[in-house]
Amino acid sequence: MRCCDYCCRCIPYSTRESIQRACIWFWLAAVVAAAVLAAAAFTVVRHVSITVEDASLSRFDLASSPEMALAYNLSLTLSISNRNWAMSIKHTKAFEAAYKFVDQQFDRVLIVDEGTVQHARETMVYHLSKCSESSYVALGSAGVAEYKKENKTQVFEVEVALSGEVSYTARVTKCKIEATCPLMLQLTSPGTAAVVFHKVDCMLAKPEKNC
Ligand SMILES: *[C@@H]1O[C@H](CO)[C@@H](O)[C@H](O)[C@H]1NC(C)=O
Ligand SMILES: *[C@@H]1O[C@H](CO)[C@@H](O)[C@H](O)[C@H]1NC(C)=O
Repeated sequence: MRCCDYCCRCIPYSTRESIQRACIWFWLAAVVAAAVLAAAAFTVVRHVSITVEDASLSRFDLASSPEMALAYNLSLTLSISNRNWAMSIKHTKAFEAAYKFVDQQFDRVLIVDEGTVQHARETMVYHLSKCSESSYVALGSAGVAEYKKENKTQVFEVEVALSGEVSYTARVTKCKIEATCPLMLQLTSPGTAAVVFHKVDCMLAKPEKNC
């Protein structure tokens, strides 16, 4: 504020007064702008962005007896970015991934526990590896036909559906996070060269009111 108090005595008094007044207005405007920016940083929520950075499927066998089940081995690398520059995110429920084939869930994987905090501007990377000898899946005849079709090309369409709930710093509302990541996975057999995976951006469901 020094510039407001000291003005050269060589300047006529009236001019000096208007310079001081302009200076005070300038500072007031700067303070108001800073307050507005800070308020915006804590009220306007930027939603997370979620990307599947890498994925590989090394087994995907369907068995129909004793029950319809998949024997599979799926590894995923998921990155979650908090794009807010002031608000951190706290998971108020466990954040989970459901694996689906032809819209039927065949497994669920925990990504982060309830209570986990992700800071502002931080990106977290999670590696999920899950395999099962027999994971129940309720495929109807259309689902089995689709499996057989995809099994011919060894490229399987697997959907990763994410769900959780978060709260943001300085906000009371808890917000559901739901996203789907559609993957096209080329089956890799041991000993063959790894398949190049192209990143997939997960689609976030429309946020609820106030979120
Ligand atoms: C699952 O696949 C990964 C590589 O894709 C491999 O390292 C791991 O040993 C496999 N797990 C089983 C139980 O086959
Ligand atoms: C999938 O294809 C493999 C060979 O490509 C075959 O051995 C297997 O029996 C097929 N599975 C089903 C359920 O059709």
